Amino acid sequence: MSKYYLTTPIYYVNAPPHIGHAYTTIAADAIKRLKRIQGFEPVVLTTGTDEHGQKIERAAAAANKSPQKFTDLISNEFRQQWKTLDLQTDRFQRTTDPKHAKVVQDLFDRCVKSGYIYKSQYTGEYCVSCEAYVTDAKPGDPCPDCGRPTETVTEENFYFKLSAFGDRLLKFYEDQPDFIQPESRRNEVIAFVKQGLKDVSMSRTTIKWGIPVANEAPHVFYVWFDALSTYMSAVDGEGLWPADLHLIGKEILRFHAVYWPAFLWAADLPLPKKLFAHGWLLFENDKMSKSKGNMVRATPIKEALGADALRYYLLREVVFGQDGNFSYEALVQRYNSDLANGLGNLSSRTLALIHQNFGGKIPAGPGDAAIAEASKAAVDAAANAYERLEFSKALEAIWGFIGALDRFIVERAPWNLAKSGDTAKLADTLYTAAEALRIVTALVYPVIPESAAKIWAQLGFRTPLDAIRTADLAWGKLAEGQEIEPATGVFPRADTKLMIEKMKEGEAAELIRQQTLMGAKVEAKTADNSSHISIDDFIKIDLRVGEVKSASAVKGADKLLHLQVDIGEPQPRSIVAGIALAYKPEALVGRKVVIVANLAPRKLRGLESQGMIVAASLEGGNPVLASFLEDVPIGARLK
Ligand code: MSP
Repeated sequence: MSKYYLTTPIYYVNAPPHIGHAYTTIAADAIKRLKRIQGFEPVVLTTGTDEHGQKIERAAAAANKSPQKFTDLISNEFRQQWKTLDLQTDRFQRTTDPKHAKVVQDLFDRCVKSGYIYKSQYTGEYCVSCEAYVTDAKPGDPCPDCGRPTETVTEENFYFKLSAFGDRLLKFYEDQPDFIQPESRRNEVIAFVKQGLKDVSMSRTTIKWGIPVANEAPHVFYVWFDALSTYMSAVDGEGLWPADLHLIGKEILRFHAVYWPAFLWAADLPLPKKLFAHGWLLFENDKMSKSKGNMVRATPIKEALGADALRYYLLREVVFGQDGNFSYEALVQRYNSDLANGLGNLSSRTLALIHQNFGGKIPAGPGDAAIAEASKAAVDAAANAYERLEFSKALEAIWGFIGALDRFIVERAPWNLAKSGDTAKLADTLYTAAEALRIVTALVYPVIPESAAKIWAQLGFRTPLDAIRTADLAWGKLAEGQEIEPATGVFPRADTKLMIEKMKEGEAAELIRQQTLMGAKVEAKTADNSSHISIDDFIKIDLRVGEVKSASAVKGADKLLHLQVDIGEPQPRSIVAGIALAYKPEALVGRKVVIVANLAPRKLRGLESQGMIVAASLEGGNPVLASFLEDVPIGARLK
């Protein structure tokens, strides 16, 4: 089978990633998984970071770092983000990588050779934020794309004869109507090209932070030429070019649909097969921006509710291609209604009934004919929608089928069949439910891979879900006698209010972490604006030695323990601590710990927490409790 090569944009490293970047990369990851199911081999996904240009140079200066140090730091944040979200990115290409510079230069040389590059003087308005010249603007006019004021620049540049490609582009869009998707975006591009194209600058001399044009100091390559070439440099020499899909946000479509094909034609190289420009993710119906302070990050959502909840929400709630809204409320609602109640219920109910009635072995098929028919219809509808990247439609079709299954189970009432001893009908009912669950699990896998793999394993499959192919989605493939695993809840129900609180708390912490990383002195906001505190400040904190009297797990919170700690008061303190991953409750009893005794009490999971345990918090690791080498009496104060 043939290869499938897809890409995300190469993200700017002027700031760490937020949910908008995660949105594109999550969608790309889902497409990658889909293409594997369809049998493409290999399926390769490139992402990376766009690290040159004035915008980055200025961000580095603002953070008091050299451009290289700064880009190393932020690029790593993106790399980590995809790891944290378990995204299957295969190549992470940085534009500061020497291997990339070579490809950019080669591409440029090919364009020079074919006569599409010339040198000329330019004076005009430039938008630093978009890294683009703005034509017909007066000094200081706002950029038509981002609204920020433009800056006047005069320089001698290399130019690319984009103006020569207008007709060829229009013919190409007509001959390959699928090249730009969705359709509405294609029309915008056609209208733009019809207005006539101006030549584009390929180099800059006023910027140092860029890839030097060979033998042409002080010219460095124009950032968009540099950035677009990444799609090729990431897979240089691997035979994967041309890309089958560039997945991008709508605001950068013009660069991909107009500039990029022209550059490639000039260089006599094959064009990518398809561009898909998705819409913008808004926060509570407003554009997300750093200045508005309404940005959301993905990591705290993953930590609170799981990566699959976020993936499902983004791909179900937002029509792919259109703008969509993010809200914490809607996220938790979707999670509870579709995942916990919908798929989660179907799965635990089916597995539990098979355990109760058939000793944990899949009963004999072939299953109900009408459901088999409905399954085929759902598989077809989902496959068609997936193929057009209509994720929300595909998921709607799958959840429609889950609804039909729920009704089927209620109508058949297997609990009554068990009572009346109608074993044949009971077997048929539960085979139907299990086989349908198998198919649903495979269908949802590209969108919620982690949870789907859990259900898959509970259904008794030993082979990874990743190995599933289209042909496996046919009805009747589930073998009689297959031993299933104990059913454990895959989507525990979330308390909406608590969950939102938890995500918002996580978001606030993540924001501070990112800001600190960017060099901001976030915690230094004391009265005299220095990072020092006085002894009087320190004395306000009542640190005490306590002894753990009892410890127990907190229901529904795998990180929390509920402790009773004696600090020499008439009653021990009730303290809820996030140390369950590091300490077993029984290992803590009798241990001396340090607690902050005068922290305002608060409720966590319905339990009162009257203080905080002091522990070393290791980045990405388990907490380690503060303790003493010598014996210390209960209630002693730390000063
Ligand atoms: N560096 C260029 C792209 C070069 S590609 C050869 C760039 N970088 S960016 O960091 O600004 O990333 C833009 C992309 O991030 C968007 O095209 C989109 O894929 C994603 N998104 C960033 N914020 C977004 C939203 N709020 N909503 C949806 N996607 C967003 O442009």
